[in-house]
Amino acid sequence: MTEKVAKLTLGDQTFDFPVLQGSVGPDVIDIRSLYAKTGLFTYDPGFTSTAACDSSITYIDGDKGELLYRGYPIDQLAEKSSYTEVCYLLLYGELPTKAQLAEFDDLVTRHTMVHEQMHYFFRGFRRDAHPMAVMTGVVGAMAAFYHDSTDITDPQQREIASIRMIAKMPTIAAMAYKYSVGQPFVYPRNDLDYASNFLHMCFSVPAEQYEVSPEIARAMDLIFTLHADHEQNASTSTVRLSGSSDANPFACIAAGVACLWGPAHGGANEAALNMLRQIGTVERIPEFIARAKDKNDPFRLMGFGHRVYKNYDPRAKVMQETAKKVLDILGVENNPTLQVAKELERIALEDEYFVDRKLYPNVDFYSGIILNAIGFPTSMFTVLFAVARTVGWIAQWKEMIADPQKKIGRPRQLYNGSPAREYQSIDAR
Ligand code: SDX
Repeated sequence: MTEKVAKLTLGDQTFDFPVLQGSVGPDVIDIRSLYAKTGLFTYDPGFTSTAACDSSITYIDGDKGELLYRGYPIDQLAEKSSYTEVCYLLLYGELPTKAQLAEFDDLVTRHTMVHEQMHYFFRGFRRDAHPMAVMTGVVGAMAAFYHDSTDITDPQQREIASIRMIAKMPTIAAMAYKYSVGQPFVYPRNDLDYASNFLHMCFSVPAEQYEVSPEIARAMDLIFTLHADHEQNASTSTVRLSGSSDANPFACIAAGVACLWGPAHGGANEAALNMLRQIGTVERIPEFIARAKDKNDPFRLMGFGHRVYKNYDPRAKVMQETAKKVLDILGVENNPTLQVAKELERIALEDEYFVDRKLYPNVDFYSGIILNAIGFPTSMFTVLFAVARTVGWIAQWKEMIADPQKKIGRPRQLYNGSPAREYQSIDAR
């Protein structure tokens, strides 16, 4: 098959660049030789048209509203799979057999406890610290407690660090929550599945075990699956860039946690519920729609819009259905926040401002309603996102480290500063 070529004409010169084809999705123009050939850089702040890597883990078709984990559609995995099975799929590329899944579940279960000294690490934080501030600190500190799995050149250590991250994030997240509410830490239990164990560690107290409802555990597991990976989003790109310098995996995941915290990214689930509460009633929706459209008002509809999805985020659809189920199970009839969310979505999707810009609800629009109903404070919403996304970060990090073409990420710039000039003594200024 003849190689496709992109031609760039500069003045009287024409330069050829190969066009590379993936399995599905847009082809890419390989511009690695651009600067050497032309002395020019490309310019793409925000990476709106830039493929920073090649990957075989997750594929998103923003126009169709399609999300595939290793080729499997998210709606099928949401209905038929489980979070730890999705972890196996993302990490190793194929759905596990029964025996493989049982072995993986056992391996993860046996790594859920954290080093006892970490309990003292927590004590240094103020009780009112935001749980994401605690997560950023504690996850980075894991390199100090698990130094025997930080050599990224050793595949065995990479594997152990990966399992440790996936297994210990729920424990650390639950500890961050317990610390914030002044309750003692609750140890993991090996007889519980991943989601049930997390709910147990969050909501049990020494005086009374938390009876995990199978339906609520299923909803928690589903929320983890929906958030597991999402191609080269901001936090995953942060993990990849950190990993490109051969930093240890704990430091890379801590960088991902820090990036995810931003309200434009993973912090949107906390911001979305706070926004829905601020709106309060259906009658006040038009006031906020007007603010979202007003260029002079920094207010945005949190949980709306997406860099890639220019159609409905397939995760938001599943999340909306789950919200209704969880609220029915919990007997939270006519939850005012859910009513406001549904009416806000209906109005926005009829408004030309949102329609013209293809702004739809994203994964963060409904998730907070579910998490709040289960009993989590809004400050924990992004922490749960980080727990779920850890497997995606780790899978992408492993893929990059194993890539023989790996290079340190080092973008250039369009410089607008001062040309070279001579230093002036202070008396001469
Ligand atoms: C996540 O990348 C991922 O995959 C992320 C994620 C994942 O799983 O990892 O999917 C998780 O981060 C979901 C997104 C959560 N963030 C929010 O819900 C915050 C609110 N949304 C926006 O801030 C915004 O939509 C972004 C950040 C999500 C996307 O921003 P883009 O792609 O850079 O788009 P943009 O800011 O250039 O907006 C395009 C236009 C602008 O108007 P014009 O200048 O063309 O007139 O749409 C407007 C924006 O003002 N716009 C919004 C809006 N989002 C975009 N206007 C009102 N409310 C909004 N939410």
